[in-house]
Order: sequence, then structure tokens, then C-alpha cells
Amino acid sequence: MSGAHKPQVDTSKAHPARVYDWLLGGKDNYAVDRIVGKQLPLVARRSARQNRAFMQRAAKWLAGQGVDQFLDIGTGIPTSPNLHQVVQRAVPSARVVYVDNDPIVLRHAEALLVSTRAGRTQYVEADVRRPDMILEHARDSLDFGRRVAVSLIALLHFIGDEDDPYGIVRTFVDALAPGSFLVLSHGTFDFEPDGARTIAAPYERGGITVSARTRAEVERFFEGLDLVEPGLVIAPRWRKDNRRPSEARSAVYAGVAAVRAS
Ligand SMILES: C[S@@+](CC[C@H](N)C(=O)[O-])C[C@H]1O[C@@H](n2cnc3c(N)ncnc32)[C@H](O)[C@@H]1O
Repeated sequence: MSGAHKPQVDTSKAHPARVYDWLLGGKDNYAVDRIVGKQLPLVARRSARQNRAFMQRAAKWLAGQGVDQFLDIGTGIPTSPNLHQVVQRAVPSARVVYVDNDPIVLRHAEALLVSTRAGRTQYVEADVRRPDMILEHARDSLDFGRRVAVSLIALLHFIGDEDDPYGIVRTFVDALAPGSFLVLSHGTFDFEPDGARTIAAPYERGGITVSARTRAEVERFFEGLDLVEPGLVIAPRWRKDNRRPSEARSAVYAGVAAVRAS
């Protein structure tokens, strides 16, 4: 594990990982995080659950495609089943590298590191804004000459345009072999016209800037890649379980795309 120091958790201001944990009904959050969570509308809580379910369906689908290497950035506080549990159920030898910049995630990283004997998990404490550094660490566990699935799930709406989120994604994609995958979900106010007031503002008051993006802006992250069916859709619609009624409302877009052979 990189950064094996005792993590210092700042409880004086809210953090995205802990607000998300609260939205999912978890216990790894503080009063400052709950203050933000309680101000958010129901759709935020529902979207968090939809997003987590998307992660699990996408991971299962990728393992079903024979992908056995995963780089998951912005992992979050462990919530079972975590990505490695989903993929190692199907492919016990799968290797998963987790990355997050929140010290509270590092504090719980042991839960992310319980791999099958045949597989491997690694935790890297790093900021997505340092993609080259993340790739350097990930190469300890992953072979980028083979297919890798890079996931940035509910992360990039915390990265403003000033930090060049499109350039960050491009750096990861450029490191991937043909047939690899980009898995991405992203907050949107396309269906929440009042989202700036009802969602972004409570986060902002807690010290967290949210950059919700439109469908066209989220689609741009997949430029030059082949989106797999059903394309870019709201999270609950991505390869949903057909026995359940389809949900119409979500504040999250989700998609999975393959890297083309050049
Ligand atoms: C909403 S949670 C999503 C967790 C998980 N990916 C999921 O979808 O279930 C966002 C995560 O991104 C992490 N994050 C936010 N900004 C980050 C950054 N600049 N670098 C790395 N991780 C970041 C947060 O700490 C948090 O764990």
C-alpha cells in the first residue's frame, strides 16, 4: 500500500467520500458530513444507491467479458460488495488497484485489500489530478500490455474544468491496450433543473465544489472510444435487471466504453 502513514482525517469540514457513505446509509461519517447529507433532496440519496448498483453491474459485466485487471479511482469508503469482491467472484485471479485521496478511505483500506489467494488488490493514496503518478503505482500490480478496466465512478463531478478533467481521462485512456475499458459515471442536473440550489449549494456550504455536467459534456469523456450497449444512460438504465420497473429519475449518467485498436 502506498502512503502507509496514520491517516489524518479532517472532521472540521465535509468530505465527498463521507457524504456519499451517509447517503448510502453507512456509519463512516461525521456531523459535518451529515449536515450536508441532510440538506440534500431525496434524488441525491436515490442517485447514490443507483450509482453503487451501476458499479456492481458494470464490474460483473466486465468480469464476464474476461477482464481481469481493474484500476478503480475514487474508490470511496468500502461498502460491500466492493469492486474486487464482485469481479473475483467471477474471476478469482483478478487484480484490482484502488485509488482515493481521502484519508478516511485509507483508514478502511484493509477491507479493500482482502483479496482471493489467486488474485491481488493494492491501495494507492493519490489524487486523480496526478494521473501519471497513479499509473506508475498501478504498474506494480497491473500489466498495461493487456486489457485493463479503468473506472472513475462518481468522481469527476468533484473535478472542476480548471483541473482539466478531460485531459486527466485522456492520460488514463492513452495508457490502455486495445480492448481495454473506461467505466465512468457522473453527476448531472439535466433532470434536476433546480440542482444548483438543491444539490450543489448544500455541498458548497460544506466546502465541496460540485461540477455537474450535461449529457454532451459527459459524453465528451468517451471521445474516440466505443460505448458499449446501452450507451450513455442514467445509471439505473445501464444493463438494468429487466424484472424491475425502469426508474425515470436520476442525477447520474453512466457508461462503459472500449478502447479501439489503433
Ligand atoms: C461519490 S464517491 C464514489 C465512490 C465509488 N467510486 C462509488 O461510486 O461507489 C467519490 C469518491 O471520489 C473520491 N475523490 C474525490 N476527489 C478526488 C480526487 N481529487 N482524487 C482522488 N479521489 C477523489 C472521494 O474521496 C470519494 O471516495
